[in-house]
Amino acid sequence: MPVDPVDMSGARILITGPTGQVALPVVEHFAKIADVHALARFSKQADRDTIEALGASVIAADLADPAAVAAIPGDFDYVLNFAVVKSGNFDYDLAANGGGVGNLMTRCSKARAVLHISSAGVYQYHGHEPRREGNPLGDNHRSMFPTYSISKIASETVCRFVARQHGIPTTIARLSVPYGDNGGWMYFHMLMMQQGLPIDIHPEGPNLYNPIHVDDYIEKIPYLLGAATPEVTTTNFGGSEPVSIEQWCGHISDLTGLTPEFNKTTNAFGSLCIDTTRMHELIGRTRVDWRDGIRRQLQALAPEVLK
Ligand SMILES: NC(=O)c1ccc[n+]([C@@H]2O[C@H](COP(=O)([O-])OP(=O)(O)OC[C@H]3O[C@@H](n4cnc5c(N)ncnc54)[C@H](OP(=O)(O)O)[C@@H]3O)[C@@H](O)[C@H]2O)c1
Repeated sequence: MPVDPVDMSGARILITGPTGQVALPVVEHFAKIADVHALARFSKQADRDTIEALGASVIAADLADPAAVAAIPGDFDYVLNFAVVKSGNFDYDLAANGGGVGNLMTRCSKARAVLHISSAGVYQYHGHEPRREGNPLGDNHRSMFPTYSISKIASETVCRFVARQHGIPTTIARLSVPYGDNGGWMYFHMLMMQQGLPIDIHPEGPNLYNPIHVDDYIEKIPYLLGAATPEVTTTNFGGSEPVSIEQWCGHISDLTGLTPEFNKTTNAFGSLCIDTTRMHELIGRTRVDWRDGIRRQLQALAPEVLK
């Protein structure tokens, strides 16, 4: 039996990383039913305008800056930490991703629950075996994003430390491949197919992941918050069905007539599918079939490519 979801309607919610691919639809959804505050650096006016047009309030702060975070309001019911930076500078990325969640949770220590979005990219590559929460961690994404996996691992550690110090009910969700009508990894693959560019894949195919549609991850957020404890719940978070890059590119090919050209290289990440046992126990199965999700994505973003 899944945990009971929290009721987020009317709640005061802080969402970090609101202008990113993953969190923007989350802001859009919750701003319709709750009092949403959106924190990012907001160096671009257009980003502020986008967030305000959705009915959320803008908070401009750099999570790497403890004084700036100490100056934000602290009285939120729920905190959803989606922010991430991948500048490639270790000092800054560790300060923003690792130190940042510490600054944030220290400031919002009275929250009823915190959801920290981590990544399946914290796991050491281990072929096709689905990664369980207790499996070894590693520098998985180094080849493309040098600071990413290390700073996501660091941010989990800081998150657990602060949660326990302050008794903040917290869930860490290790996200697989999020996608929806505003984009995702497979959309980039479609663009590469369109431009005749080779798509890097690991030679040890199939390259399996657990794509999760935006409808599913939005629906699961109240459950993830319901699973939060001060000892910190850590769970994988992806689609219930593993799907390979080869499969989703094949499906895009069926829908569009475009042909993928694969470049097999050990520089590619390598298969990274997750064990969903704990996730299913806590929050249940996901619902959107990946084939429908990808068709909807193309319909929304590039209807002209569909046959
Ligand atoms: N996208 C994926 O495929 C994927 C897969 C697995 C896990 N995840 C996780 O999902 C979350 C969202 O990812 P995403 O792809 O949507 O990220 P993204 O598109 O790169 O967006 C990052 C967001 O964080 C904000 N941000 C960056 N640095 C900041 C700082 N120093 N202080 C405050 N805000 C800052 C950015 O706004 P400003 O630049 O204005 O500050 C932006 O809103 C991340 O935690 C990521 O690790 C993503």
